[in-house]
Amino acid sequence: MSVCIIYHSETGNTRHIAQHIASAIPDTRIIEVTDKAEHSRVTRFLMQCKAAMSEDTTTIEPAQIAVRDYDLIVFGSPVWAFKPTPAIHAAIQALTGCEKKRAIAFATHGGKPGKTEETFKKWIEGRGMQFAGFKDINQKDIEDDTKNADVVKFVKEAIPSYL
Ligand SMILES: Cc1cc2nc3c(=O)[nH]c(=O)nc-3n(C[C@H](O)[C@H](O)[C@H](O)COP(=O)(O)O)c2cc1C
Repeated sequence: MSVCIIYHSETGNTRHIAQHIASAIPDTRIIEVTDKAEHSRVTRFLMQCKAAMSEDTTTIEPAQIAVRDYDLIVFGSPVWAFKPTPAIHAAIQALTGCEKKRAIAFATHGGKPGKTEETFKKWIEGRGMQFAGFKDINQKDIEDDTKNADVVKFVKEAIPSYL
């Protein structure tokens, strides 16, 4: 079995969870996607919300992500305006070799994940993958051992060979 975690994180919460999963599950590759869009500090929050709400994509690094060799793909994103971010949307669009793969998603948020799960499901299925579950983590629980163990369990149970 092998797992590929693909995540976007601006302030570190989603990165923290992604790294925790990677450290707990052997044979895991972890890929951070960075958003290359530039916003002024004054308008950044509004522009990010507007882009997320409209389900925009953005320019990301890396520009292509090959996932042919993995059994499970895990996407991680912050919640922006009740949805996953444009960078993780762009990452899903940037995949090669993803058709028919099993995929799950997690998101960190400040208390209102809103339509994040259904939006992830739509994007994942839109690329021909099987959507196999979603977990949301409140930012206040990022350092909570029980919640972290819960996320690892969620990922392990989605690995095809674990079933
Ligand atoms: C532009 C923006 C929009 C956000 N919108 C929401 C939201 O709709 N609901 C929510 O619960 N938290 C929202 N948040 C809070 C983030 O989802 C939360 O802080 C998340 O853990 C950040 O992840 P990161 O540290 O990996 O970037 C928003 C934060 C930003 C910057």
